[in-house]
Amino acid sequence: MVFHDQPDPKEREFDRSLRPGSFAEFVGQQQIRDNLGIAIQAARGRREPLDHVLLCGPPGLGKTTLAHLIAAGMGTDLVITSGPALGAPKDLAGTLTRLQRDQVLFIDEIHRLPKVLEEYLYSAMEDHAIDVVLDPGPSGRSVRLGVQPFTLVGATTREGLLTAAFRSRFGIVERLEPYPTTDIEQILLRAAVRLQVTLEPAAAHLCAERSRGTPRMALRILRRVRDLAQVQQKPAIDAGTAQQGLERLRIDALGLEEVDRKLLRALIQRGDAVGLKTLAAMVDEAEDTLEDVLEPHLIRCGLLARTPRGRVATAAAYRHLGLPEPPGPRPGELPFAP
Ligand SMILES: Nc1ncnc2c1ncn2[C@@H]1O[C@H](COP(=O)(O)OP(=O)(O)OP(=O)(O)O)[C@@H](O)[C@H]1O
Ligand SMILES: [Mg+2]
Repeated sequence: MVFHDQPDPKEREFDRSLRPGSFAEFVGQQQIRDNLGIAIQAARGRREPLDHVLLCGPPGLGKTTLAHLIAAGMGTDLVITSGPALGAPKDLAGTLTRLQRDQVLFIDEIHRLPKVLEEYLYSAMEDHAIDVVLDPGPSGRSVRLGVQPFTLVGATTREGLLTAAFRSRFGIVERLEPYPTTDIEQILLRAAVRLQVTLEPAAAHLCAERSRGTPRMALRILRRVRDLAQVQQKPAIDAGTAQQGLERLRIDALGLEEVDRKLLRALIQRGDAVGLKTLAAMVDEAEDTLEDVLEPHLIRCGLLARTPRGRVATAAAYRHLGLPEPPGPRPGELPFAP
């Protein structure tokens, strides 16, 4: 399993316990916070529900957290569901018709909402009503059910999979980017206070640097180094403990884990561009995980390039793994090479 993907239930509980309770505690992403803050204040002033919000970005950057903060900001409850959980029209119809006035409906992984349900959602979002088909067929009857004015907050790691029609129905679209190291340090230091452990600034810096700009990953690293400090009976998490913890987790200076290095080594061994399917099979990961979780960071670090012929390891990847660079330009640097 990839360390920074798919948290297990225990980790989810840990995440929840450290989740910021207000916009003030939400570190970084200043512009998104400002935009949402203004929209919330204005909607409240008009006594209207907030416009529908779409939150896009890689896993672990704070989409679910923001959904909670939006509901809290509007002074209402958050009703939580997800694309995969809404399998049939009756599931979505039930959820929509049960909503109370001004409530916030959070649909996580909204790109995985079955296409047939999009129409329902559109009419609920725009007309505050849905037409439920009673008996399908040419003489099909349907009833119109009312839906209370509500705010839809959708979260997605794959914005590209949403149709333009769907995206355009959200009045507010915000994209989360990985956090700068200083923001992650702040998140870690705050978490340490909540966990009642002493985290030395140098240790916070080290953990932050290797967390791919992702709060969830940073908090998981903190959890592991906290264990280490406790077992070693250290009064504080210092740089030495953090370093040791990161080594144990085999997270390197660029935040790469074993699976990332395996992927790069597989590419290098091939010595040629590789398609997504083949690469997924080579490293035994799902194609989705590869595209959503592994590749973006490798691309950001300049270790992997996508070319029209497939994925290639760059010269920097050879250097990072301590391998001798092959002579001549790498395919990654000549994307249109024959
Ligand atoms: N800006 C932030 N400030 C402080 N803590 C944060 C921030 N963003 C995220 N976190 C912490 O990181 C954890 C993961 O964030 P969250 O669950 O909101 O991510 P997500 O984007 O919904 O991820 P996924 O796509 O996997 O659902 C949260 O529990 C929270 O504790
Ligand atoms: Mg989430």
